[in-house]
Amino acid sequence: MSETAKIILEGKTYELPVVTGSEGEKAIDISKLRSETGYITLDLGYKNTGSTTSAITFLDGEKGILRYRGYPIEQLAEKGSFLEVAYLLLNGELPNAKELEEFEGNIRYHSLVHEDMKHFFQFFSSNAHPMGILSAMVSSLSTFYPKSQTPNRPSKDVIRTIYRLIAKMPTLAAISYKKNLGQPYMYPDNSLGYVENFLHMMYGMPTEKYVPDPVVVDALNKLLILHADHEQNCSASTVRMVGSSQANLYSAISAGIAALWGPLHGGANQKVIEMLETIRNDGGDIHKWVDKAKDKNDPFRLFGFGHRVYKNFDPRAQIIKRSSDQILGKLGINDPVLEIARHLEEIALKDDYFIERKLYPNVDFYSGIIYRAIGIPTRMFTVMFALGRLPGWIAQWKEMIEDKEPISRPRQIYTGANKRDYVPIAQRK
Ligand code: SDX
Repeated sequence: MSETAKIILEGKTYELPVVTGSEGEKAIDISKLRSETGYITLDLGYKNTGSTTSAITFLDGEKGILRYRGYPIEQLAEKGSFLEVAYLLLNGELPNAKELEEFEGNIRYHSLVHEDMKHFFQFFSSNAHPMGILSAMVSSLSTFYPKSQTPNRPSKDVIRTIYRLIAKMPTLAAISYKKNLGQPYMYPDNSLGYVENFLHMMYGMPTEKYVPDPVVVDALNKLLILHADHEQNCSASTVRMVGSSQANLYSAISAGIAALWGPLHGGANQKVIEMLETIRNDGGDIHKWVDKAKDKNDPFRLFGFGHRVYKNFDPRAQIIKRSSDQILGKLGINDPVLEIARHLEEIALKDDYFIERKLYPNVDFYSGIIYRAIGIPTRMFTVMFALGRLPGWIAQWKEMIEDKEPISRPRQIYTGANKRDYVPIAQRK
């Protein structure tokens, strides 16, 4: 006998099916609620609403668990490569040696962008934010590949689009960085690995060969893996929403980049460093800024703190915090804002305001410390988040398409004016 939920509306009892996930999570399936009762549910920000079933990523906010396709994030971050994890997210299984070699080869093959795209970059101002550039350039990729605009295309075209996105986004990101510096763009060097090639395009110069530091390569590989997916977060839900109208994958990813840019989401990693710098430049009085974050009349909030799902700790933040020590030590960097971050965390975690609201450091709190240490400029931090999250966005889109999910179209409760007749302007007060 399958479990059901009973609700009583206007004296009538209705039974709704209960769905149980593979990790024991439970949901009331309200797919037939409106047709049977005329009622809908209301849940601002979807805080209690599941938009789909998914086999990609599992989070347990109370226990601080994050797994990609069942593999704990701690193991993948320690032992995996980013493209290996991308393959896992997209295909559901870790690749064998041959599968990984083929996947890496397909990504390398598509690393160049159409030469005409370089003209687009000329017309962005030199201080254009790289997230604005990236979102625009990813969307414009669809104009170079018209076949990608045909919904439900044969899977070989879809797979090629997936390769193109994973291969070209680092190239576009690096060009936007070089554009900001006024330096010559670097072409991809396909003799290099994915992370090394990105660093080559970022820091290489036509006049001298760039040799990536293995410490930096390892740090970036780990950060990309830690950001690779996070179930139905704001940007992944945006990608699913856009993809559900059968818009092409480039457009859906471009929309995901736009959603990630927000300071409450991926844009927080840039805001964290700016916040720490502000506290440092203000004399380092951390209690003053913690009080500001608690003050409802003050718009300031502690960026990098709090999470919709994690209510004990964000496992990614713990891994990144440990890694920041190791990486800065290996690189011989002493970053004063790291000490401020640690002190801020220590004070906040003992403060009733944060304890009562279960606010802990999230993935964005320490990531900027490492990006900074490996030479990534602050305005590129969210671009790095997007590069990491790309395979997760694509996996979520792919699952939605393969599951033949309907176009997303939520309902609403109307609270505006009731019916009234038009009044000619001459008769209006
Ligand atoms: C990411 O969803 C994901 O999985 C996202 C992500 C991913 O991998 O995709 O994990 C990446 O986006 C991480 C979050 C990065 N954002 C920030 O660091 C911005 C700062 N954090 C907050 O804005 C907030 O915590 C959110 C947006 C992350 C979560 O917001 P919720 O779940 O809507 O919670 P809320 O805003 O309703 O907060 C509950 C209470 C409120 O106080 P009360 O009204 O109950 O008195 O906690 C307070 C909030 O004011 N609060 C904070 C706070 N975060 C929440 N107060 C001060 N500083 C903060 N950072």
